[in-house]
Order: sequence, then C-alpha cells, then structure tokens
Amino acid sequence: MTAPARRGVFITFEGIDGSGKSTQARALAERLGAALTREPGGSEGAEEIRRLLVEGEAARWSAETEILLFTAARRDHLEKTILPALERGAVIVSDRFADSTRVYQGAARAALREKVDLLHAAMIGLEPDLTFVIDTDPDVALRRGLARHSGEDRFESLGAAFQHRLRTGFLALAREYPQRVRLIAGDRAPDDIASDIATQAQAFLAGRAHG
Ligand code: ADP
Ligand code: TYD
Repeated sequence: MTAPARRGVFITFEGIDGSGKSTQARALAERLGAALTREPGGSEGAEEIRRLLVEGEAARWSAETEILLFTAARRDHLEKTILPALERGAVIVSDRFADSTRVYQGAARAALREKVDLLHAAMIGLEPDLTFVIDTDPDVALRRGLARHSGEDRFESLGAAFQHRLRTGFLALAREYPQRVRLIAGDRAPDDIASDIATQAQAFLAGRAHG
C-alpha cells in the first residue's frame, strides 16, 4: 500500500510481555493528548481476532498461522483506526505493532522473518515514525505479567527461555532500525521511565514541526 499524504504522527511501544509497555503507552498518550490504541486489537474486528490469539493453549496455532492472524488483525486496525487518525493529523500511540510480529513470529517462535516481511510489505506497508522498545529483564517482566492473571497469558505460558529469546530479538531490532527505534531501560520506577520517554517524544515532535 502506498502511504497516504500523512499529517499525523505514529508512535509505537514494543517489548516483551510484562516489560511495562502498556503503562508507558498510556502515560505518553495522556501527556501528549494523543489517541491510544493497541495490538492485537485496536478496532472492532481486530479485537475479535485478538481473542483467538491470546487465549487457549500455547500450541493452538503454528507460527505461520499466527503471522496470518496478526496480519489480518493489523490490516483491520490500520484501515479503521490508524490511517484515519493519521489523515486527520492526530498523534496516535500504539501498544505494539509490526515489530512484535518481526520478533515473536519472525525470530523467537520460529525463523520466519522473510515471510513476515513479505506479508507486511503486501498488506500493511506502514512503519511507525518513532518506536520505544522497553527493555526489561525477562525474569522481572514474567513475574509482573503472570501476576496479573488476565486469562490472556497464552504467550507468557511459553516460559522464561522464550522471553529471553524475545529480548534478544527486540535488541536486534533496535540495531536494525536505529533511525526510529529508541531503547528504554525498563527496570526503573514507572515515573522515571515516563519522563525519559516524554522528553524524547517531545524533542522528536518539535524536530518534525520545525523540519
Ligand atoms: P506490558 O504491557 O509490557 O505487558 P504493563 O504495562 O501491563 O506491561 O505492566 C505489567 C505489570 O507490571 C502491571 O501490573 C504494571 O502495573 C506493572 N509495572 C509496569 N511498569 C512497571 C515498573 N516500571 N516497575 C514496576 N512495575 C511495573
Ligand atoms: P499484549 O496484549 O501486548 O500482551 P502483553 O501485555 O502481555 O505484552 O499482546 C498479546 C500477546 O501477543 C503478547 O504475548 C505478544 C503477542 N504478539 C505476537 O506474538 N505477535 C504480534 O504481532 C503481536 C502484535 C503480539
């Protein structure tokens, strides 16, 4: 898809489960008065697909099927929520986006990065302007995540070794996209992390306004 004439700004948060990304996405959206959305989900149809993905047995879907389901959800989210926000000139903050598929399905669950990239190019074709990867020790993050008992723990149930592979994947992603990805230390008090992120986001937005 060709990107539309965009006036808005698309900011994403990424990281392993329990890293603190939702907390930080919420805090930044509030501080900027931005729209807040999430993946999998973020539109009515995508939220329905989310339930198929986050509930049930870990072995319920193969990595290949997951790529298709996450991309289907993302396409609906893009059409119904993200592009309309960008077209009206809004700042929109998403708790996860395509980098999660690159790392979870493309690297950590299976080595399927090429297929992830093909499908992304064909069906999504949009990259965030700015991405914050919250980097948190997997053992700390896993305890935080499971403590929630949300019933949405299909991926957390894959265990600590999987979370360590994910962290490696997100660190590699930060090296792959140094222009847009900012690595944020997640083992700090939530308010310290939030001010760090707000400073970086505001500098980025000011740069765009003047550039
Ligand atoms: P994620 O979206 O990455 O899974 P959340 O933001 O939902 O993470 O946080 C997971 C849990 O950890 C929540 O209970 C949240 O209140 C808590 N939490 C978030 N950030 C921190 C932090 N910096 N220090 C300690 N606990 C945190
Ligand atoms: P999320 O609700 O962000 O979970 P958490 O708050 O625990 O981080 O995402 C649900 C799960 O889906 C999470 O384990 C990450 C996974 N996921 C993928 O595997 N691929 C993707 O493309 C996306 C968006 C999420």
